[in-house]
Formats: sequence, C-alpha cells, structure tokens
Amino acid sequence: MAIFDDIAARYRTTSLVQASAGEQLIGLLDISGSMDLLDVGCGTGNLTAALAGRTSGNVTGIDPSEAMIREASTAFPDPRISFRVMDDTGMDDEQAFDVIYCNSAFQWFRNPARFLGKARKALRPGGRIGVQAPATRQYCPVFIEAIGRCCADPSIRQVFSGFRPPWFFLESAEAYGDLFEAAGFRVLFCTIEESGSFRTPREVFDVFCSGATAGYLDPSCYDCPWPEGFENAFLDGMRRSFETMAAADGKLDLMFRRIFLVGDR
Ligand SMILES: C[S@@+](CC[C@H](N)C(=O)[O-])C[C@H]1O[C@@H](n2cnc3c(N)ncnc32)[C@H](O)[C@@H]1O
Repeated sequence: MAIFDDIAARYRTTSLVQASAGEQLIGLLDISGSMDLLDVGCGTGNLTAALAGRTSGNVTGIDPSEAMIREASTAFPDPRISFRVMDDTGMDDEQAFDVIYCNSAFQWFRNPARFLGKARKALRPGGRIGVQAPATRQYCPVFIEAIGRCCADPSIRQVFSGFRPPWFFLESAEAYGDLFEAAGFRVLFCTIEESGSFRTPREVFDVFCSGATAGYLDPSCYDCPWPEGFENAFLDGMRRSFETMAAADGKLDLMFRRIFLVGDR
C-alpha cells in the first residue's frame, strides 16, 4: 500500500467525494444502540469516527496502509475506536460485529468474493453489510476523458497502453447483487447512483489524487517500466486536461457512478 501511504497526509482534506458518499452509506445502515462495527479500508478514519457517533458500542477500523492508520489513530484517540493495519484478507473474526461498513475500498479488493465470505462469518446473525464503491468501467467520465486527452502525447500514450486497471468493477447493480447473494447475503438495497458536483479544475485534480492515482501511478499496474519523468508528465497532463475541460464558468461536472449496497446475513 505504498501509494496510499503517499496519499495519507492529504487524504482527509481531499477526499470530498468519498466523504459525502460515505455519509450517505452510513444513513442506509440504521446504526443504533450498542452495535459493534467494523470499517474495512477505513483510510484516515474520518468515517470510522462518524460511525462511532451512531453507536455506544465498539468500532474497529482496518486498513493495509500504515500511514493511513497512523493518521487515523492520531486524529481519533477514542477508547471505543481501535485502528489496525490489516487488509481484507486478514479478517478472521467470527460473529464479532453487527455491521460491516466498507466505503470506497471494495474496488481495491483482489478477491471480492473471498472478502464477502469472511465478512459474512465476521457478522453476528442478522448483522448487516454496507458497501459503497465506484462502479462500472465508466466510473468517472471526467477522469476517463482527461486520460484520453493526456494520451494525445505519444510518450504518455505508449506507456498508458500497458496500463492494467487494478480495480474491481461490475457493470450493473444486478451483477453486484448476484455477487453478494452468492456469498450468502440477502440484498436489502442495491443501486448504482450517478452523483455529480460542479468543481474547479484544481478540486477535480485533488479528488483524482485522493484515490485514483493509487492505481494510475502504481508501477505494478503497467506491463513495462516507466521512462524517466513519466509520473510528473502524467500528472501535469491530467492537471492541464482538467483545465481545458472546464466550462465557461470555470467548473467541471464531476460525476461518479457508485454502487450502494446493503445486505444482511
Ligand atoms: C479511497 S480510500 C477510502 C478510505 C475511507 N474508507 C473513506 O471512505 O474515506 C481507499 C482505502 O482502501 C484501502 N485498501 C486498499 N486495498 C485494501 C484491501 N485489500 N483491504 C482493505 N483496505 C484496502 C486503502 O489503503 C485506502 O485507505
């Protein structure tokens, strides 16, 4: 998780889009009383802390990025909240939680079906899982168009032709529902939403750097080594592309397609 380590220091202020979707997911989960909660891929813990505000029980946040967990532990030193460096594959608890929450992290899991199996085991009977994640290969048309514009530069195009996206995306809500049902969950809510907000090129660039760069700038996602200077050339190209894509009022319509899914066991 080296790339997320690089992002961690700025994540709390740049994760505008993840934060609003994460609040929406919390609202779908009916958290109350003394429920014990697990936040998988908790990042800097902003939403873990928001979850803790909904229960008098314990809340655990796990994330494989040491820097993210360090930020979270420093920012939220609450005895009811514990943070651990761990990825989804390390989850071995049995019937320990009433709710598992996973915001903007599911797309990173190498084997989502295995995660769902572990999540189901970790939930108490009647427990719920809530997942929000970017969905479909066209998850953010503005990012995809800006990458196309960057690739007008032949040196970027050549490297980018060897990019293998690391993300897990399905193309319909039904396909996500089928995946959760195959893992034994009953799907209570499942929809792909398109939500947009008008942002300046600078804000769009910050949002791009708050998550997507962890894939686009991971050398292991390319089938050949990068030439010297590729990283800076790519980021400059993206920054310029967002500027040229702005409308007359100086803003871009930053639309994301996102799966919101709630299930119970
Ligand atoms: C975009 S951030 C989301 C953080 C937080 N949930 C939020 O919504 O603000 C994605 C997080 O997923 C974490 N992540 C990546 N792969 C993971 C995995 N296999 N298991 C658990 N978390 C993972 C990253 O380290 C990163 O902190």
